Amino acid sequence: MTDLLNKNILLGVSGGIAAYKAAELCRLLIKQGASVRVVMSPAAEEFIRPLTFHALTGHAVYVELFDAEASNAMDHIELARWADLLLIAPATADTLAKLAQGYADNLLLTIALATESQIALAPAMNQQMYQKQATQDNLKTLASRSLLLWGPDEGEQACGESGPGRMLEPGHLLQKVLALFKPGRLQGLNVMITAGPTREAIDPVRYISNRSSGKMGYALAEAAINAGAKVTLVSGPVCLPVPGSAQLLTCQSADDMLQQVLSHINGIDIFIASAAVADYRPQQQAADKIKKSADEMTLKLVRNPDVLATVSSLEQRPFCVGFAAETADLETHARIKLQQKRLDVIAANWVHEKHSGFDVDENALSVFWAQGERQLERQSKTVIAAQLVDIIADLFHSASH
Ligand code: CTP
Repeated sequence: MTDLLNKNILLGVSGGIAAYKAAELCRLLIKQGASVRVVMSPAAEEFIRPLTFHALTGHAVYVELFDAEASNAMDHIELARWADLLLIAPATADTLAKLAQGYADNLLLTIALATESQIALAPAMNQQMYQKQATQDNLKTLASRSLLLWGPDEGEQACGESGPGRMLEPGHLLQKVLALFKPGRLQGLNVMITAGPTREAIDPVRYISNRSSGKMGYALAEAAINAGAKVTLVSGPVCLPVPGSAQLLTCQSADDMLQQVLSHINGIDIFIASAAVADYRPQQQAADKIKKSADEMTLKLVRNPDVLATVSSLEQRPFCVGFAAETADLETHARIKLQQKRLDVIAANWVHEKHSGFDVDENALSVFWAQGERQLERQSKTVIAAQLVDIIADLFHSASH
């Protein structure tokens, strides 16, 4: 396996009983193709001999700040630059505290201060020490500086106590490293997502709309960003924070939404229509607030443009994903929409079920495409969105795009 080929990983080992597990971690990283160098804190030498790491990596192990032999190989600044990742495992309470304060009184800390690479920490300590406010404050400080905190685990500890503080197992830490370096499934792709409801004005103060909260679309935007996509989010009025790096284009009516979509559609690889676009709008929008007069009032509605169908019939069409909200014959209706709107995928949900569909935090989806289907069990919209993005990535990559 070569998932970590060309990756330079500097493994920092500080002085805790879990240091012996760092040898296994070192072996697993090398097995995945990584170039590994090891730097130990002086206290770590009390738990494991540098020779072990030397034998595993085939390279000198760095311990002392001023070590003539090791510095012939690479000095601390070179090591700091060389590393794609500095992974400190185990990271003891003392090392965490010193990192939080910016200490540089041993080689490992000096490198941590000098490096511009990502630093990941695998905390390992007695559960009392872990739960102490001082340690928790240090962890918070380190997380706020974008250091990655991997673990700790809960369970039986070397000291005989039980609780949070055990270092994550080497295999688990390897998975974290792999996930960090794995290029997202939508890396380099442009994804546009419509989300939320539209508002169709009756007069300057009234409108027709629906109960869509936008949660599904925003969760999809987040999931697509996590998968490496550049996301353009075309959103009707909602009260949600804009996910990470998404480019937000706001709109009110279906017409607005269509204009925003069409003026930014060039170069879009995948279009996901999760918005609950109003199918109709008032034929006339009164310039002034309508005054009540007669006992009855009739509002004439006309059809709105179909944003998704318009995009899917473009000559240079992106891969198109639609949603369907159904109360009966889910598959039949969803497959008809799949065909009529010329979609690549359709995600359908029952909207009459309690806790499903509109304005709720959970959802269950049936996903259909020409040659297949997948059922996504009821889950939080965040998890469902990640699963759906995974399916979309699979189908996109297997289609001739
Ligand atoms: N859609 C759209 N523009 C519209 C209407 C719908 O882009 N004017 C998109 C939605 O974002 C969704 C899919 O089309 O992806 C839903 O299709 P639609 O035919 O409206 O299905 P339902 O909302 O389920 O409504 P109905 O069954 O009543 O037609």
